[in-house]
Amino acid sequence: MKAYKVAELLKFEELQQDILVRGWVKAFRQNRFIQLNDGSTIKNIQCVVDFERFDESILEKITVGSAIGIEGGLVESQGSGQQVEVIAKNIVIYGEANPDEVSKTILQPKRHTLEKLREQAHLRPRTNTFGAVTRVRSGLAFAVHKYFQEKGFYYINTPIITGSDAEGAGEMFRVTTLDPVNPPTTDDGQVDYGEDFFGKETSLTVSGQLEAEVFAMSLGQVYTFGPTFRAENSNTSRHLAEFWMIEPEVAFCELDGNMDLAEEFIKYVIKYTMDHCKEDLAFLEQRLLQEEKSKPQAERSEMSLTEKLNFVIDNNFMRVSYTEAIDILKNCKPNKKKKFKYLIDDWGADLQSEHERYLVEKHFKCPVILFDYPAKIKAFYMRLNEDGKTVRAMDVLFPGIGEIVGGSQREERFDVLTQKIADLGIDEKELWWYLDLRKFGTAPHSGFGLGFERLVQFVTGMTNIRDVIPFPRTPNNAEF
Ligand code: 4AD
Ligand code: MG
Repeated sequence: MKAYKVAELLKFEELQQDILVRGWVKAFRQNRFIQLNDGSTIKNIQCVVDFERFDESILEKITVGSAIGIEGGLVESQGSGQQVEVIAKNIVIYGEANPDEVSKTILQPKRHTLEKLREQAHLRPRTNTFGAVTRVRSGLAFAVHKYFQEKGFYYINTPIITGSDAEGAGEMFRVTTLDPVNPPTTDDGQVDYGEDFFGKETSLTVSGQLEAEVFAMSLGQVYTFGPTFRAENSNTSRHLAEFWMIEPEVAFCELDGNMDLAEEFIKYVIKYTMDHCKEDLAFLEQRLLQEEKSKPQAERSEMSLTEKLNFVIDNNFMRVSYTEAIDILKNCKPNKKKKFKYLIDDWGADLQSEHERYLVEKHFKCPVILFDYPAKIKAFYMRLNEDGKTVRAMDVLFPGIGEIVGGSQREERFDVLTQKIADLGIDEKELWWYLDLRKFGTAPHSGFGLGFERLVQFVTGMTNIRDVIPFPRTPNNAEF
């Protein structure tokens, strides 16, 4: 008998004789109506059981959470609420689920908090919300590849274990096989990493950018899409210790081209998802609406999820220099009334998410690309401007999220880059290969990094980044 996915069955318009559908029971009412879901869609298929034709011993195993298969015919539904339903001729029980135990889990069909769902991360993909988020995440990932492949970018897999700190921020997880209790030491009592697995200090990568630059300077246009790691102790709704980043890198491209690419790319993947994940987004929109209702009026969003997504697709991102942004922030109400946690006094201040969100949500009321940041608050590889104090950096800021993209035009001039590295006290020897790129056919080039989970957050409307990745890694949490 041919097996069909629930999503396929729901699309059939005509009667089917012998079909098999397999999934997990969401509900079983009146010993007659099974709601079955197999993950192929947010919707369930209704399966109708004539209980007089089945053994009680079978029927009692059909409980919420159990895995079953139903053979039968697909017919036009007699009841309201669905077009088609399956009339069961035969039922296979794959795996039972004890109702007493199920009632203690999030499989129990009632409203559970997102915190509760996180504690049972192994069961939460069975919930409507996390199922929908997971399908949207998958759709977005596909759109990322589709966009770059259609534009002639090559997909590059950069190393996960690395000897370089790409961001120079010192937020790396060490990778070692040395005995933590009795590590080998050098004559002056330091841990001897020469004895370590790689014969040197290594860590999990914070970004694939430096290696992506190598390939941009040979294949022209490349992108990475892989896991990155940050040992920053930030317990916020937008930070993970392990997250996925998309990093395009383009030769012969300057900052304006980089901004164009970021804007076009983000719009493309959002549009793709809106066209291909309609049912899941409709569900998430309703979920968000419910969540908003529990908030005080002043904190509620003026736009629905669809409106927010359309707004991003339909409007130009506002391009504003850091210097202009500081002027706006210095003179804005929350700064003057000391409502910001970090007050903006002078040019040179690093922007916190409260400032970014003020610019996006209150001042410009649209996505913003900030550019030309002070060199002092940005990474070593960004191209120095003529003024000698700003660099060709750009951050894309989104409503509700703050920074979603960070990027720059890279410093391609050998002398300027070596000077910068020396000034920052970075060991030039560590970056010999990176500097070589500036010796053999250097050229202007640019790129950026987009935090995939922040994008998934924006598209799904989920407030907490822990709810858009299967198994979140955050300080004090590496369960599952
Ligand atoms: O701004 P970041 O640190 O930039 C880089 O790593 C550059 N090397 C990228 C490049 O130019 N190729 O990080 C880029 C993006 C941020 O804008 C943010 O969206 C995301 O990565 N991000 C995080 N997402 C989740 N959790 C964290 N701890 C993140 N840190 C950065
Ligand atoms: Mg950044």
